[in-house]
Amino acid sequence: MKAIVQRGYGAPERVLQLDESAARPVPGDSDVLVRVRATSVNTPDSATVAGVPYILRAQAGLRRPKQPVRGSDVAGTVAAVGREVADLQPGDEVFGSLWGSANRSKTGTFAQYTVVPASQLVKKPAGLSFEEAAASVMTGLTSLLAMRDAGHVGPGTRVLVNGASGGVGTMAVQIAKSLGAEVTGVCSARNAELVRSLGADHVIDYAEQDFTKSESRYDVILDNVANHPPKAVARLLAPKGVFIPNSLGITGGLLAGLPRMARAALMGKGSTDVKFVTLAVNHENLNELARLLESGEAKAVIEQTFPLDEAAGAITRVLGHHASGKVVITV
Ligand SMILES: NC(=O)c1ccc[n+]([C@@H]2O[C@H](COP(=O)([O-])OP(=O)(O)OC[C@H]3O[C@@H](n4cnc5c(N)ncnc54)[C@H](OP(=O)(O)O)[C@@H]3O)[C@@H](O)[C@H]2O)c1
Repeated sequence: MKAIVQRGYGAPERVLQLDESAARPVPGDSDVLVRVRATSVNTPDSATVAGVPYILRAQAGLRRPKQPVRGSDVAGTVAAVGREVADLQPGDEVFGSLWGSANRSKTGTFAQYTVVPASQLVKKPAGLSFEEAAASVMTGLTSLLAMRDAGHVGPGTRVLVNGASGGVGTMAVQIAKSLGAEVTGVCSARNAELVRSLGADHVIDYAEQDFTKSESRYDVILDNVANHPPKAVARLLAPKGVFIPNSLGITGGLLAGLPRMARAALMGKGSTDVKFVTLAVNHENLNELARLLESGEAKAVIEQTFPLDEAAGAITRVLGHHASGKVVITV
């Protein structure tokens, strides 16, 4: 099969190659072999291609990633199922993610076929394109878990989303609105209209205004950028407010935003309510995401779509930290 393989760390054009004779992965008993129709680039994919922050190489592989195929979000058609899989059959259109599964150490989604645990796939709503479905998984689930579970967002909750125009931010704004929140989005002027069109009640242009200096107060702050010290961000919390740090930052280096993450975690030991999102890909969360997408309460914002053999261009776009919404790869 065709797959994009990573041969080192660095510039995507240099380290990614199209392999036309990669081995097709074999599904285990509880797995599904998916013919990939679309996948999307998430920050863990772009960071692993760049090998930055350097600390990630300790786990991924020192000179090159041990598992060469990137990608975890997927939408496609079932090609075969393991013998324990009862709820899916060949031909079904599905979407889901490899994230968090042991399969990730064996396979990726920047390929014609991938192998996903059946527990991490659901049927794709018929009205949703493969591109929209693949664009929504990691960012949609992260936003759902941040707003619904970590933030307990409900009618009237004042929510601030820093990085409202990116993959996570565009979903978080919509899901917060669907839960009844009053939403403030922070992004560039270029994306202000987009963020407003997704339902944000207020938009702050970060080039014009440092939101951490504001006198406004928020019940929930989702920080997708980590471009301010956690203490400065948490100062804006209303009493009983929740701070959700969700970024390793937009700088490179050895540790990138890890020190800020550590400081936020320490703050959580004191009087500040700090919650981190741990992505859980399961039927319950995927079905709720499917419901949000099907009802139109949330939609994928796709900036650009690349064919598989131009995956390097897709990764480069995400590495720039300024894609409006998501970058998708079609197979
Ligand atoms: N916890 C989890 O499970 C999980 C899952 C997915 C992602 N994440 C994390 O979430 C973070 C965001 O991911 P994403 O996919 O949304 O990233 P993204 O699509 O690259 O979005 C980046 C956002 O940052 C903004 N931005 C860029 N430069 C900025 C600057 N100098 N000052 C202020 N804002 C700036 C962009 O706004 P403009 O384009 O308008 O400038 C955009 O809104 C990542 O760090 C990722 O690691 C966590």
